[in-house]
Amino acid sequence: MTWWQEAVFYQIYPRSFLDTDGDGVGDLEGVRRKIGYLVDLGIDAIWMSPIFPSPMADFSYDVSNYCDVDATFGTLESFDRLVDECHAAGIRVILDWVPNHSSSQHPWFMESRSATTSEKRDWYVWRDVNPSGTLPNNWLRSWSDEPAWTLDAPTNQYYLHCFLPEQPDLNWANVEVRQAMANTLRFWLDRGVDGFRMDVIHLIGKDPQLANDPEEIRGIGHVPLNDRIETHGYLREIRSVLGEYDDVVSVGEVYLLDPEAVADYYGSGDELHLSFNFASLLTPWRAEAWRALIERTESSHNRVGAWPTWVLSNHDNQRVATRLKGDRARIRAAAVLLLCLRGTPFLYAGEELALRDAHIEEHQVVDPGKRDGCRAPLPWESSGLHGWPAVPWLPFSAEPEIYSVQAQELDDESMLYFVRLLLRTRRSSEALRRGTLDALSAVNDVLSFERSRGDERVGVLVNFSREHRSIVAPAAQHELSTVRATVERVEGSVVLEPGESLIRFF
Ligand code: GLC
Repeated sequence: MTWWQEAVFYQIYPRSFLDTDGDGVGDLEGVRRKIGYLVDLGIDAIWMSPIFPSPMADFSYDVSNYCDVDATFGTLESFDRLVDECHAAGIRVILDWVPNHSSSQHPWFMESRSATTSEKRDWYVWRDVNPSGTLPNNWLRSWSDEPAWTLDAPTNQYYLHCFLPEQPDLNWANVEVRQAMANTLRFWLDRGVDGFRMDVIHLIGKDPQLANDPEEIRGIGHVPLNDRIETHGYLREIRSVLGEYDDVVSVGEVYLLDPEAVADYYGSGDELHLSFNFASLLTPWRAEAWRALIERTESSHNRVGAWPTWVLSNHDNQRVATRLKGDRARIRAAAVLLLCLRGTPFLYAGEELALRDAHIEEHQVVDPGKRDGCRAPLPWESSGLHGWPAVPWLPFSAEPEIYSVQAQELDDESMLYFVRLLLRTRRSSEALRRGTLDALSAVNDVLSFERSRGDERVGVLVNFSREHRSIVAPAAQHELSTVRATVERVEGSVVLEPGESLIRFF
């Protein structure tokens, strides 16, 4: 087993974590000051969304320099200090690498755009205006029904951008691009990072013919459709760059919504170390739907010897507490799934507080993809500006006084207490961290499965229904419930409260 198979990752969206310099935007020093909080929480590694210099059209996912820190977040020195202190506290650090596109303000693109004869012209994807005046193909960019192409008047050619026009796609078919991007990995690995989350990594290989997307699914952006053989060759190259360093991890944002497709991006142990599996974000809260997802994830990943990942929330999607409409028992049961299923869990900052999305008025929207709600700032304190030195860049979500860290640290029935307990439980259980997953079933809207390793056997039950459910089950030595402090023992069966989840140690 490697560290990244057993680790619990915690995603930090740095703009929204904690501001320390009073500009209303979170920074690296804010993360550094909360290392103690992260240690108490019990996570093993942090993934920070991008911190690179950027015009911020997509908040640092439009990178204008891959080898520096944007002044909003700090400096290379503050970065080094953060990494050193995280390491001293036993926390690994991974960065968010954005290989598919740069900013249109990146010197590479400015050079590429300057002339059709530029030596960097081929670093991006340029196409002639064809005689009939139509676009190079029918691909649509994300977040709108606009084309993925923009005409650049001075040279009268179109360039490709699967996201904003400010995010031109790099041409990975060009070996110089691949070498330059490999050097950006080395830059951060030399500074001691433990790996990377790789942004929309399934997009880097493109169909050389740039064929149209199928007519029958018109209206869908190109991003979730791009699943190309070319990407796998590039991933093997990336893996060998990572192999120049000890013990580093890659986790790919493979934005394909089927676990089968996702599993292919692990190659034969020579592509990604881990890949996100986003089907969980779309799975309805029903035992049978989760059983089917778990089974499909297990079988597809086992087929290629891949280690799964689990995720409930991130900076692009509605938070799990919002999806589950603030239902306390269900939110806790979801955390049990995240931390007890077989695979590496990714916890999004604020999930440990059951934080919900903020309500964002139209005039407050700043994100081109309208994902502002799930990026609301973390409320650290119960009152005032909730621990922020200035009004933050986005509004807090509702009832920050209840959802703040300060309030929840004082309440032993809070979500924060519960998540800390779950993380401790996971840490002390080899079966939960590394064990097999068997006996998966869904009966009467109750999901159950077992995790085992050696002599240790742990059973997990989740009552997805809003009613009591009685389950035939052997007695356990001790049990952890999401809704009650002590669980009554009834010989031969377990009665679950509405929405309850139980972790049972045999
Ligand atoms: C990924 C990121 C998202 C970003 C997009 C373009 O999906 O998670 O936040 O906007 O890529 O880089």
